Amino acid sequence: YSLRSLNTFGIEANCRYFIEINSLEDLKQALTWHAEHPQALLIVGGGSNLLFTKNHEGLCLKMNIQGIEQIEETEEYVHIRAGAGVIWHELVQYCVQKGYHGMENLSLIPGTVGAAPMQNIGAYGVELKEVFHSLKAINRQSLELHDFSKEDCDFGYRHSIFKTTHKDQYIIYSVDFLLSKKARINTSYGAIQDTLKAMGITEPSSADVSRAVIQIRQSKLPDPKITGNAGSFFKNPTIKLSEFERLQKQFPTVPSYPVSAEEIKVPAGWLIEQCGWKGKRIGDAGVHPLQALVLVNYGKASGQDIWNLAMSIQKSVQEKFGIRIQPEVNIV
Ligand code: EPU
Repeated sequence: YSLRSLNTFGIEANCRYFIEINSLEDLKQALTWHAEHPQALLIVGGGSNLLFTKNHEGLCLKMNIQGIEQIEETEEYVHIRAGAGVIWHELVQYCVQKGYHGMENLSLIPGTVGAAPMQNIGAYGVELKEVFHSLKAINRQSLELHDFSKEDCDFGYRHSIFKTTHKDQYIIYSVDFLLSKKARINTSYGAIQDTLKAMGITEPSSADVSRAVIQIRQSKLPDPKITGNAGSFFKNPTIKLSEFERLQKQFPTVPSYPVSAEEIKVPAGWLIEQCGWKGKRIGDAGVHPLQALVLVNYGKASGQDIWNLAMSIQKSVQEKFGIRIQPEVNIV
């Protein structure tokens, strides 16, 4: 079964068995079949954070569980639940239209609701955890549904327990969100302020912020429908303050974001650009000309081509700056 249309990198890769999951019943049946036929198991949402470097010699489940429902409403908040297969941006648009605030900065992030908590998606000053309430996930072995609170998930920068201690043990079935009925405008990110100004807006609504974010993303990030990519390929590395001071002496223009009193985040895009990679192309694998953090497939690149490019970039950054940047994308 070809997985080409199921990964936004547009990489040609196959799996042995493929099942589309539209309900909890489907999920239980598929996992029961899998228990009887043990083999590698791959769960795919939107395929927007995935790089296939080889075929998946096993079963692939495509999560397609739909539905957005309202659980509770108070004076201040709306509690909603969305199926794992709901397209993330469709949920954002639904909330913006209904006047449920808090998600607008996360507009246009590719992928599905079920994949969003895996790595606590974040952009333009907001992370998923700020609107997250809880989630339901099925245990792969027992087939029981478990509730996970926000604390349980232990969200961090591009991090949750589903990437570490609970990796490969649960499949996210639905996610609950707590959204504010009063606008919670966050324009802390400079580019949002600039874009709103250019739009002639001085008192932005959530819908305006959403429009601004869409405009910024469309101007900087390649549309995966046109050029294969998986957004940021690497995480922004967090380094010790002492290490940053050493770096700053050698490279006075290095940008940074504070993380804590002892740690600082450096944009990997800057490190990669400084190594001369921005806009470079090796065959059909390339570094996006407008955002060095994004690797692209210009057409016929294999997953291995992209991976080789990524490893060359990692090596240059290590050599020039002594910092080891790590992939943000899941590698199969
Ligand atoms: N920069 C460069 N050259 C580049 C790219 C970036 O010098 O080619 C430097 C600039 O100093 C720029 C700074 O990096 O000011 C930050 O760039 P940008 O605002 O584009 O953000 P980012 O740190 O590169 C992160 C997320 C993005 C998210 C943006 C906006 C990660 C790994 N990436 O990128 O997330 O959209 O911030 O909040 O944290 C994704 O995860 O797929 C993704 C696109």
